[in-house]
Amino acid sequence: MTDRYAVIGNPIDFSKSPFIHMSFAQSTDQDIEYTKVLGPLGQFHSTVDEFRQAGGLGMNVTAPFKLDAFQYATQRSAAAELAGAANALKFQGHEVLAENFDGVGLVRDVVHNLGHALKNKRVLLLGAGGAARGALLPFLAEGPQQLVISNRTESKAKALTKIATQHKTLSTTVEAVAMNKLGAMQFDVVFNATSASLRGELPAVPATVFGPGALAYELAYGKGLTPFLRLAQNAGVRQLADGVGMLAEQAAEAFVWWRGVRPDTRHVIKELTVPLV
Ligand code: ATR
Repeated sequence: MTDRYAVIGNPIDFSKSPFIHMSFAQSTDQDIEYTKVLGPLGQFHSTVDEFRQAGGLGMNVTAPFKLDAFQYATQRSAAAELAGAANALKFQGHEVLAENFDGVGLVRDVVHNLGHALKNKRVLLLGAGGAARGALLPFLAEGPQQLVISNRTESKAKALTKIATQHKTLSTTVEAVAMNKLGAMQFDVVFNATSASLRGELPAVPATVFGPGALAYELAYGKGLTPFLRLAQNAGVRQLADGVGMLAEQAAEAFVWWRGVRPDTRHVIKELTVPLV
């Protein structure tokens, strides 16, 4: 029997998840159906109830329902707990398991696909919203030398630093630094986890933050050369990336979780890549 999965969001038309998961299913020989569900606002619970009653086994969750999905769950992973949000659900009888694979997908893309180990590296994380929160534990698990969190609203960066300090190992230093105080610092990897690019804006970060051989990583996907990536390019950074690999890898994590088999993400990344121009 064909197993049923779906992505739920509002809007949902532009979701790449059905393409991604059906590609994975084809390449791993899994008999699944994967659809899009437009969730009416304020009706997340009843919409998911309906999908489960119809035999659905799991869902990816996108905006604006990640918090609803977290609340709907009966069991939550540490990553979901820390993010306070879920992007994947698994249904097992009466149990609803919640996961958040965004951070682990991001790290897998950086380390595995882009070949930038984070161990003993200096990492700058711009932003302190949901996307930054999700990345925190997976970053720390890699054992960077330094993790600096910088956010327009400083108090949020400080709050996130406090959480990070509870989860870090001794060899990693974690601190919050105001964007206008970053001038004297350099990093091996700079992540833009702010939502500035979605509006074509540039976080007020100095171009000097990129160290020699740095990677500039924009978590947003499909926006081409965003103001942040342009800043990096103009500063001489040669390795620029957007969130296409993160998108594919978080989907792969959900696929492994649901199906027990890891798909190769290369085909999907190639198909979905939007040139950085
Ligand atoms: P997401 O889930 O995408 O992380 P969010 O939780 O609303 O969205 O967080 C948005 C992040 O982008 C925040 O860190 C926000 O900074 P503030 O905490 O100061 O609001 C950051 N952000 C949004 N627009 C920005 C801009 N133009 N410059 C700098 N940071 C910006």
